[in-house]
Amino acid sequence: MLGFIGAGKVGTSLARFFYEYYVHKGLTSLALSAIYSKHLSSANDTISLISKLSCDKSKPLSLVATSSLSAVVENSDIIFVTVPDTAIRAVDEELFLLGSKALKDKVLVHCSGVLSAQAGFKRCSELTDTVSLHPMLAFNSKETPIESIQKAFFTLEGSDTGVEKLKEILCKTKLQHAVLNSKDNPDRLKAKYHLASVMVSNCVVGLFSMGQNLLCECGFTKDEALKALAPLFINNANNIVREGVNDALTGPVIRDDAITVQKHLNCLNDDDKKLYRLLSKKLYEISKNKNPDKDYDNIKTLLFTEDKK
Ligand SMILES: NC(=O)c1ccc[n+]([C@@H]2O[C@H](COP(=O)([O-])OP(=O)(O)OC[C@H]3O[C@@H](n4cnc5c(N)ncnc54)[C@H](OP(=O)(O)O)[C@@H]3O)[C@@H](O)[C@H]2O)c1
Repeated sequence: MLGFIGAGKVGTSLARFFYEYYVHKGLTSLALSAIYSKHLSSANDTISLISKLSCDKSKPLSLVATSSLSAVVENSDIIFVTVPDTAIRAVDEELFLLGSKALKDKVLVHCSGVLSAQAGFKRCSELTDTVSLHPMLAFNSKETPIESIQKAFFTLEGSDTGVEKLKEILCKTKLQHAVLNSKDNPDRLKAKYHLASVMVSNCVVGLFSMGQNLLCECGFTKDEALKALAPLFINNANNIVREGVNDALTGPVIRDDAITVQKHLNCLNDDDKKLYRLLSKKLYEISKNKNPDKDYDNIKTLLFTEDKK
């Protein structure tokens, strides 16, 4: 039985996802037990939402809203603690107070991208199996479509038994996943893991904004700049995903065109120049990797020699 603490976007969306699998495939291990939240009304809203969106109204929803944290633990084998990262430790303390007998053979799961299982469940990790299960997906509402969850990638980390039990669920629901081997320094590894997503999502927003501003300096309106860059941006993203970084890379660095790169540098202020140089050094590495026999001396000299003012 699966229980939930935290009736927000991720808790509700995952509960609904598992419920649909339970209904359609008859997977009894995915049956839902109870949901607890800071406000009982949120847990009740989750139940109404899952019932409303259910594809098969003939199967009653076993999930009940409760104002008792211990009721969730008592009635579940796997407990998803889907509260904000900042509240995980407080819930960990509350769960710890239930004692080892109540937590015996339970698996506690949080969904933070940056916290390891142990960092989130500092106290409970002493008593039972704990796991971090991070969906690489933006859940912007409680009604995240089932199809979006089906396409998402999930990353697991935590105690061996806990990870095995969660893997079983992910396999049954055909969700793509990987396990982080975090024996040595799980906190650092989770931070690095989370950084990977930030680099290709949040940081790209910063780069896009920089491109848009450069076009505005050339006389484009913000809207024109957005329209002009959109096809380039989307095609590039598709090329990276379909063909990998080596084959997606075009532009002056891979052509060893130092004259163009110098012209670009001349357009930028000191901060943006540093950013352009650092990113171009990454592109130089990709270029060398793709074309090991090509001479990249011009670009190398330019990128690795600091500006003489
Ligand atoms: N959103 C995303 O895109 C996303 C993606 C991947 C992973 N995650 C991770 O998923 C987790 C949940 O995020 P979320 O976006 O679903 O957050 P959210 O929408 O803000 O929902 C959090 C829920 O937790 C409840 N809550 C807060 N403190 C609580 C406490 N002390 N005890 C019990 N319930 C409590 C809130 O209760 P009330 O509603 O009752 O006030 C709320 O319903 C986080 O660890 C986050 O890092 C999020």
